[in-house]
Amino acid sequence: MMPKMVRIVDVGPRDGLQNEAALVPLSAKIKLIENLADAGLPVVEAGSFVSPKWVPQMADSAEVVAKIKRRPSTRYPVLIPNMKGLEAALAAAPVDEIAIFAAASETFSQRNINCSIDESFERFGPVAKMALSRGIRLRGYVSCVLGCPYEGHVAPNSAAQVALRLLDLGCAEISLGDTTGVGTPLKAIDMVNAVTKKVSVGKLAAHFHDTWGQALANLYAVLNLGISVIDSSVSGLGGCPYAPGAAGNVATEDVVYMLHGMGIETGVDLAKVAAAGREICLVLGRKPLSRTAQALQAQSSK
Ligand code: HMG
Ligand code: MG
Repeated sequence: MMPKMVRIVDVGPRDGLQNEAALVPLSAKIKLIENLADAGLPVVEAGSFVSPKWVPQMADSAEVVAKIKRRPSTRYPVLIPNMKGLEAALAAAPVDEIAIFAAASETFSQRNINCSIDESFERFGPVAKMALSRGIRLRGYVSCVLGCPYEGHVAPNSAAQVALRLLDLGCAEISLGDTTGVGTPLKAIDMVNAVTKKVSVGKLAAHFHDTWGQALANLYAVLNLGISVIDSSVSGLGGCPYAPGAAGNVATEDVVYMLHGMGIETGVDLAKVAAAGREICLVLGRKPLSRTAQALQAQSSK
């Protein structure tokens, strides 16, 4: 069942940066997106059109998407919570893909988007309809598929139900978010097995944060079930502002190294993505978290 090719979605410019307290300069955001696309990432999540009061770091997403140089072979999805967000995105620049985001946990839904799961689907309905009518690809996230920072355990079937509701709205792809990175491989397998009873594996992506150091192991487990789209963040940047203590996504460099080591193609140039990571880390004033990036750097300074 292991796929021969994996599509990597780099969510670094959105998930990676949204939690940064200090404002990241617009030029650095644009450069990061362009560097990732140049490194061969087929999908680069470019920003989000949420309330700037809730996530100040993403307040300049309209400028970001208006100013990036786009490669024809790359998609640049943006996160959209409601019609106001979609209208702002459409006014800013061409939109090829949007991502709506729901949760498998009621409390997380309330804390993250200020409404219940049912209410969130009432908001997403018209968003999905308008996006699809304009030929915009629709992606859906399910947060907290392996646990919730407020409720703890989340039943695999709750993740499956929300994934099915996103599919019914017309999502071409559903990304399963281990928002706080609490999952372990057998739990990840149980969750994906529950979801694939309702949504075919070809429509699923794995979006695993690495707070507990389990993300690569969890990815290996779900690759074996046939998942062939992986979300990762360059240099392991990020976290969700409404998931206290959550670290970044699994690092893109580590995912690329693992996949290429297993003979799985990604189309991503590891050296270039590591260089993109070093550049944004210089701006942020920290070292890349990716172990692969660190190993590459140690090798080059020998
Ligand atoms: P609300 O306060 O309930 O919304 O927020 P509202 O409709 O009552 O509006 C209140 C104010 O927000 C109004 O402004 C609206 O105009 C404005 P005011 O009159 O007070 O000046 N507003 C907006 N402004 C700009 N863009 C918009 C927008 N909508 C309303 N789209 C809302 C509801 C969803 C907007 C809010 O809760 C929000 O923005 N939440 C952000 C959540 C977020 O971005 N979280 C991080 C991303 S999710 C994540 O990281 C998880 C993921 O990675 C997967 C995983 O790891 O699991 C995807
Ligand atoms: Mg996330």
